Amino acid sequence: MKENFDVKLVENAKYYTPDAEYKRSSWIGDYQEAYRRFLADPDAFWETIARELEWIRPWDRVCEWTYPYARWFVNAQLNITANCLDRHVAGDRRNKVALIWRGEDGKERVYSYQRLLGEVSRFANGLKKLGVKKGDRVCIYMPMVPEQLIAMLACARIGAVHSVVFAGFGTSALNLRINDAEAKVVITADISIRRGKAIPLITIVQEAIVHAPSVEHVVIYRRRKEPPVELHPGREHDFYGIMEDVPAECPCETMDAEDPLFVLYTSGSTGTPKGVVHTCGGYMVGAYYSTKTVFDLKERDIYWCTADPGWITGHTYIVYGPLAVGATVFITEITPDYPDPGSWWKLIQEQQISVFYTAPTAIRTFMKVGEDWPNRYNLSSLRIIGSVGEPLNPEAFEWYYRVIGKSRCPIVDTWWQTETGMQMITTMVGEPMRPGFVGKPIPGVEVDVTDKNGNPVPPGTGGFLVIKRPWPSMLRTVYKNDARYRQYWETISGVYAAGDLAVKGSDGYIMVIGRADDIIIVSGHNIGTAEVESALVSHHAVAEAAVIGKPDAIKGNAIKAFVILRVGNTPSEKLTQDLIYHVRMTLGPVAVPHEIEFVDKLPKTRSGKIMRRVLKAKELGMDPGDISTLEE
Ligand code: WT7
Repeated sequence: MKENFDVKLVENAKYYTPDAEYKRSSWIGDYQEAYRRFLADPDAFWETIARELEWIRPWDRVCEWTYPYARWFVNAQLNITANCLDRHVAGDRRNKVALIWRGEDGKERVYSYQRLLGEVSRFANGLKKLGVKKGDRVCIYMPMVPEQLIAMLACARIGAVHSVVFAGFGTSALNLRINDAEAKVVITADISIRRGKAIPLITIVQEAIVHAPSVEHVVIYRRRKEPPVELHPGREHDFYGIMEDVPAECPCETMDAEDPLFVLYTSGSTGTPKGVVHTCGGYMVGAYYSTKTVFDLKERDIYWCTADPGWITGHTYIVYGPLAVGATVFITEITPDYPDPGSWWKLIQEQQISVFYTAPTAIRTFMKVGEDWPNRYNLSSLRIIGSVGEPLNPEAFEWYYRVIGKSRCPIVDTWWQTETGMQMITTMVGEPMRPGFVGKPIPGVEVDVTDKNGNPVPPGTGGFLVIKRPWPSMLRTVYKNDARYRQYWETISGVYAAGDLAVKGSDGYIMVIGRADDIIIVSGHNIGTAEVESALVSHHAVAEAAVIGKPDAIKGNAIKAFVILRVGNTPSEKLTQDLIYHVRMTLGPVAVPHEIEFVDKLPKTRSGKIMRRVLKAKELGMDPGDISTLEE
């Protein structure tokens, strides 16, 4: 990590305050008051939340912290699926819609809580029949279909540790993850459907398990009926086949609060992916609490998170959080550009989505194609709109707020990580929103911006984003690599170093600048790639931008920008000069790109993050390293 920063914050103090009714009716109530209550007694704060859920055995202690290891809800026993399913079926939500799925062909599948519990139970019994036991790892490599969620919940029900791998990963990435987790079973589908095309998942799995000695069985959801893919007897099994001739009920496995619930791989800035381990009790409490309060989910909401369950966003905010709350969740395989750029707005209108959660990269893509597309649809069902994954630059905020939220819906820009398991920083619904700033820590979370020694830096000065105390849904270890876990808490002594750079405003609002490793030092000044990108994107002709540092004999580094123009603009020398001038005026001469290249596409991870490393390697004619997370 770098040592110092020259980030200077220009305080523009522009806020948007939502209608007072939002705050009055919110679960969290008054943010300041809730935050004070948490600080006064953190254990009591979390205990109150945990009591809203069902436990087989209560905890002896809320948190046991032996730096850098935490145990939450010590000696408690539970099963997360009892809270996501049985609790609702036994209560008032038996017939409530838990899940609505929409396919590209318009096909819709709807599951009540009762029906979902039935499917999960039978699939769990099917897995048991294959010999899956508590603690076994199961790899799930599936498209966005209800079966993907059913597989995850079935694992959780019998105590198997799932490792979901996003279905966009290729053979070697999948192989690496299967081997690292030593998965006994792989659950997949014959095909996934994207933009009218069938992508054969099963062949990728078949190749990926050639050198995966741990794998005993492959379970295949066969979507193609004529003819269905053939199954290799004894090893390959039909998804619904294993659900035949099993009991309709499957008792929940009793899990210790600290038993692992899942492993999820995340790319580090260097080296192989890290298997982030989350546990049953703390993760459940964090997912439940944040879903309920950050999205302020109410009984009548229809909630759509556009992520794939293959990412942490999907784990926490499609599967475990919303189901623990008892919400109605919408999912779809439909991409935002197919059959046209209105597809998602059409779905919001048709499904009457009230809470919508997406990523800045999607928002900026929508900005590029123009507001005519969303304006064709009635989006008045929307109540709250969210963002996650990277900084939501002020221009994207303004557009999202005005064009999608109709200057009415609060935006919850949520900062968190695979490692944190739940949202950590946001602007709670009802609080004033500040474009460019993610917000403040949610009650239950304590963060700060510090120098490399952990000393808080003054407002307006850049520093490292740190988390100052353990939280229930924090990662417990990196699978088979605890040394990498300890790095999170040892990089800056005593606190969790998120690896992000941030600035705090004088109002306590936090602006996340970007990854600590995405900083470019130009003439001794540290420039955030995200800062320059944000400046470029604030120009009316720019849709997206990515900047990298290029070695420069005199300055150390020079900034090169890759720019995608909005439709209706064409590259020209005049435009290049306009952009340079624009950045100069916005950020100052030191941040001015020395070179601008107009491009049609930027290399991105499947979660939508620009891979500057790949741009840089290409630019310098170097090896790009691990590109397993690259989109295409
Ligand atoms: C990194 C974590 C958490 C789910 C998606 C990504 C960046 C995430 C924001 C935000 C600015 C953000 C950070 C963080 N990030 N949300 N609202 N504003 N930056 O999970 O792949 O584990 O990535 O994403 O840099 O460290 P992930």
